[in-house]
Amino acid sequence: MEFIDEMHFLQMKKNFTRYLITSALPYANGPIHIGHLAGVYVPSDIYVRYLRQRGKEVISICGSDEHGVPITLKARQEGVTPQNIVDRYHEVNKKAFQEFGITFDIYSRTSNKIHYETASEFFKILYEKGIFIEKTTRQYFDEEANAFLADRYITGTCPHCGNGNAYGDQCEQCGSSLSPQELIDPVSTISGNKPVLKETTHWYLPLDRYEKWLRKWILEDHKEWKPNVFGQCKSWLDQGLQPRAVSRDLDWGVPVPVEGAEGKVLYVWFDAPIGYISATKELTGKWEKYWKDESTRMIHFIGKDNIVFHCIIFPCMLKAEGSYILPDNIPANEFLNLENEKISTSRNWAVWLHEYLEDFPGKQDVLRYVLCANAPESKDNDFTWNDFQNRNNNELVAILGNFVNRTIVLTHNYFKGCVPEISDLLKTDSEVLDEIRNIASRVTDSLENFRFREAVKLTMDLARLGNKYLADTEPWKLIKTDEARVKTILNISLQITANLSILMDPFLPFSMEKLRNFISFNEISWDLLGSHELLKAGHQIHNAGLLFEKIEDEQIRAQKDKLLITRKNHLKEEPVKEQKPEISFEDFSKMDMRTATIIHAEKVPKTKKLIKMQVDTGMDKRTIVSGIAEYYDPASLIGRKVCVLTNLAARKIKGIESQGMILLSENPDGTLHFVTPADEAVNGAEIN
Ligand code: MF3
Ligand code: ZN
Repeated sequence: MEFIDEMHFLQMKKNFTRYLITSALPYANGPIHIGHLAGVYVPSDIYVRYLRQRGKEVISICGSDEHGVPITLKARQEGVTPQNIVDRYHEVNKKAFQEFGITFDIYSRTSNKIHYETASEFFKILYEKGIFIEKTTRQYFDEEANAFLADRYITGTCPHCGNGNAYGDQCEQCGSSLSPQELIDPVSTISGNKPVLKETTHWYLPLDRYEKWLRKWILEDHKEWKPNVFGQCKSWLDQGLQPRAVSRDLDWGVPVPVEGAEGKVLYVWFDAPIGYISATKELTGKWEKYWKDESTRMIHFIGKDNIVFHCIIFPCMLKAEGSYILPDNIPANEFLNLENEKISTSRNWAVWLHEYLEDFPGKQDVLRYVLCANAPESKDNDFTWNDFQNRNNNELVAILGNFVNRTIVLTHNYFKGCVPEISDLLKTDSEVLDEIRNIASRVTDSLENFRFREAVKLTMDLARLGNKYLADTEPWKLIKTDEARVKTILNISLQITANLSILMDPFLPFSMEKLRNFISFNEISWDLLGSHELLKAGHQIHNAGLLFEKIEDEQIRAQKDKLLITRKNHLKEEPVKEQKPEISFEDFSKMDMRTATIIHAEKVPKTKKLIKMQVDTGMDKRTIVSGIAEYYDPASLIGRKVCVLTNLAARKIKGIESQGMILLSENPDGTLHFVTPADEAVNGAEIN
């Protein structure tokens, strides 16, 4: 097609001849939800289907990530073995993806023998090359459980924002990445005990030695990466990289293949990305052409919490090994929220794929469409059931379904389902025909640049164009007086329909297959796009059925009720926290608490939760930073009375000095609310 030749696509410039597409391996510790789908799997499947339609040599790789602390913690909670957990969710997720039409060429798992071999081998090569630094350090240890406390086995107070529930690897409140030693008042999540420090030896990947190379590879050679990805990489690189431990003291994972390393396993983020390689080996004996040939274009689809691992650590591993290619692009997405709240597996705040498939049988495409149209491509985005219903009823049904249905029905009514001849073209006709090409070329460009929201919107524009064409030309009025004209109009409408069935196929594969059956058309090659003769005059089409049906309020209400129940259950289930140890009156009286008024409030840029406020304490006006952006809108805070602990030592939070603390009550589910003084209390009034 000429429109494709006109563009300067990256892969053409670089002469890529085949594609290796990976999608983040989901942890097998829970089912798949809409956040996973919108962030990773819907975009990757659209892209893969598009490449296949273009006749590219492509494989799509995924599987379960079966190691790591999230899995052993889940097993502990349920009192079963980690193997039991991963066996369960591997099957559930594999089946759900398949039913949803995500067309992986393989859905493997990291507990496979081939993966153990591949990951061990990889470690050994780096070990023998002398890449690792071996270091003995003191790490937190739970004496009762007789275990070192890595990552999420330890919680404590975040040194950056004061969140009392920060994990050993990360604070979810302020997003800082942490090490267990940084936590204030650390506690073992296994026993609840205070841990002790104990010596242990681990292997570290010296990321710092790759910094210079990474700076060039990312900051100079890959300026085309999405701004959110590029920005995160730059900020990591600017902060300076540290050696990173690639082993852990755990009993679940790939054993460290070195003598004297009993009881140690590979860090999950070392073994999991190697899972992409093992899965490729499992899929094909010719795996090396995908991993070791420069003419392969490797692309990782991931969510934003995976950026550092795919853009920095895994590339360093590959580079250190030496015989592998590097990813050419990593189009990571941000997060999807559900009804304005963060999706949470543990709080059951999610729309689960397997439940959706049960509640909306045959409606895979509706969810695919809504998630693509709302994909959190450049910022976090929200899924709401109302939007789901609106997009189905007002777009899929009213625009796409309506156009296709009218075209097919009119063809049956006037010409017994036989594609009519085209004759003299008017200006409107030629414009419409040109526009098919134009839209197809723009969709191609959007897909090549991983702009899936834009792409799906453009495909709907083609259906919109079809509707407008019918409305403008009004064949139903002309049929009595000018049959030849009606033939041309319906021929063109049918060409639009056939083009739609190709162009929308990556996005709506189930419905477009149906549509192709309606019009007895079974060629889906991207190269045909823009053609005005996809359906030849004289070709017989079938009857139309319904492509999409309206979703009623009742169904939406049922889904919202489900969420409401989750919310209520959660409040009931969560026990209130135990009372803290006794303190003396003297302890208490050390605290200086005052009534104050917020006089200014603004969101701290680049954070999700922090608001910077100016408060009038009666004594002075000072700055306080607080993690309440999820619960309060800054604009609504001005003039609000609050209680402030004024003599708390000042702390820097994201570079801002916070001079005191606003008192908040915290519900068992973690939601925060102001402790509000009485109206009569004046600024500076002491709270005793
Ligand atoms: N399991 C990880 C997550 O859900 C993703 C692993 S991606 C891989 O965040 F590259 F490591 F496989
Ligand atoms: Zn924090």
